[in-house]
Amino acid sequence: MAKVSIRDFLKKKERKERITMLTAYDYPTAKVISNTDLDGILVGDSLGMVVLGLENTLNVTMSDMVRHVSAVARAKPKQLIVADMPFLSYEVSVNEGVRNAGKLTRNGADAVKLEGGEEVVDVIRAIIKAGIPVMGHIGLTPQRFLRIGGFRTIGKREKEAEQLIRDAKALEDAGVFSIVVENTYAEVAKKITESVSVPTICIGAGPYCDGQILVIHDLLGFTDFSPYFAKAYVNLKEIIDKAVNEYINDVKSGKFPARENYKEISDNR
Ligand code: KIV
Repeated sequence: MAKVSIRDFLKKKERKERITMLTAYDYPTAKVISNTDLDGILVGDSLGMVVLGLENTLNVTMSDMVRHVSAVARAKPKQLIVADMPFLSYEVSVNEGVRNAGKLTRNGADAVKLEGGEEVVDVIRAIIKAGIPVMGHIGLTPQRFLRIGGFRTIGKREKEAEQLIRDAKALEDAGVFSIVVENTYAEVAKKITESVSVPTICIGAGPYCDGQILVIHDLLGFTDFSPYFAKAYVNLKEIIDKAVNEYINDVKSGKFPARENYKEISDNR
């Protein structure tokens, strides 16, 4: 099983083959995913909300990202591992952005993802110059929810839609190998996809994209809240609830541990 590369992403767009990505934040999940045909794993800063119980992504730190990226990388998945650069890890200075991108790469990321359009091209160029592939991220950029005015769908007004297309072109020009398009209208995502030669990977932006990405906890039905654009393929919450209740009942009734679950000295095993 050959490792998926950024060139594979570009080739897929040329061949009109859809790209599939999911988030993952830990070793066991990455291990399971590694046996599938998924193209890419994003260690997203969504881990703040999904795994750490934070209200938004603003308090996700470089240390959080390094810990989770290295856990995913230890599973040695064949998928391309993309690591999110967290809030304030690339905005303060270009040098800091390059250093932080390097830290994620040294801990197992194959590429990094940054939120923003025209305003982040300088740091993107510098990171790419250092040899690290970059994925862009436009549309709803959750690290900027305060400025955007909440977690809302972007691009209804013509001015906003036009800015998204300008942003996508600026990112392509800066050298990104793909662009996440989050929470915009399907028509806008279609225009963006047609405007750039690099693949668009969409979430909550309709079907006219080169690929799709979902937060794995949404796909597994393992969150308190799931956005309308996500699809749960299984109800893990229900499965876990059932298993835990069975365990409680087994312990209370003496069914667990059973004879095969413990040793006695005379067993000689
Ligand atoms: O952090 C994340 O999970 C993301 C996806 C929503 C694309 O950025």
